[in-house]
Amino acid sequence: MREAKIDKKITKGRSQSEFHDLSERLLNSGDAYWGNLGFWKCANDYSMACEALAHQLAIKVNLSEHSRILDAGFGCGDQLLLWLGKYRVEFLCGVNYSVSQTKLAKQRLVDSGSTNINLDCLIQGDVSDLLDPALWGEILIKDYLINTVLALDCAYHFPSRKQFLADSYKLLSTSEVGRIGLTDIVLADETLSWGKKVILHSMLYLSRIPKSNIVTLSEYSNQLVQAGFHQIDSQDISEHVFEPFGAWLTSSKVGRRKLKGNIGAWLKYKVTAAFLTWAYRKQVLKYVIISAQARQRS
Ligand SMILES: C[S@@+](CC[C@H](N)C(=O)[O-])C[C@H]1O[C@@H](n2cnc3c(N)ncnc32)[C@H](O)[C@@H]1O
Repeated sequence: MREAKIDKKITKGRSQSEFHDLSERLLNSGDAYWGNLGFWKCANDYSMACEALAHQLAIKVNLSEHSRILDAGFGCGDQLLLWLGKYRVEFLCGVNYSVSQTKLAKQRLVDSGSTNINLDCLIQGDVSDLLDPALWGEILIKDYLINTVLALDCAYHFPSRKQFLADSYKLLSTSEVGRIGLTDIVLADETLSWGKKVILHSMLYLSRIPKSNIVTLSEYSNQLVQAGFHQIDSQDISEHVFEPFGAWLTSSKVGRRKLKGNIGAWLKYKVTAAFLTWAYRKQVLKYVIISAQARQRS
């Protein structure tokens, strides 16, 4: 009952101008607001799969009570609650483009009673301004402050992932062990047919993903090395992401019930799921978890 009320409020109050808004709430259960593609190896519910993807990332970068995180693209804050609650991280700050999501994330942290975070450290802004002191205001991102940069299912949306990697290196290179971790989309094959390219580029355009961000894993690794990273570790988890998301969307009664009456959202998720299934089967895209260590600046 309470869930239904929240969903109604979200759909009504949905910002018309924001691409990343609160609409993924419709896919979630309980009081979760996750908005990623999920890791479906052992999950049969959207929120569970999204949380599992976050755990995969946390494991990849050895998240612990010694982690001092900068989280880029933190959505509605579910992952922030996880980093603080489960991994008990030492410090957490983040930047997120969506106004509605950032506002909600802060409110949820207040409601959760989290005392180990300064809400001023969660900034609404563009990751392109990561190194701009004006973005952070009073919270200066000082040397040694951050030892982990995370981007959970969002770097492909950034204006330039290459720039994000370079900026992240600058933040991490003063730490003894500075790590970056991302779950991300890469190109499976450089030599796509004309037909595949047309479909891919149309979907990237509709999904507001810059074409230049969709590169092969080997080009991705080159960009990490150029930025200053080494010890690159990547894992292809496509089989547990692309197809299962679509299968869940088709089979889930909960999802269907909630999306009924919201044709726009239903269409968006259906088209996305169909595209991802196609992209996986035709070997156009892969979904990967990547971590890398920043070379220490001498
Ligand atoms: C697919 S959602 C993933 C949200 C969240 N990480 C999760 O797993 O639920 C992509 C996120 O990237 C953020 N984002 C997109 N472009 C951004 C930018 N230029 N700067 C900062 N955040 C950005 C959006 O606000 C959104 O929260």
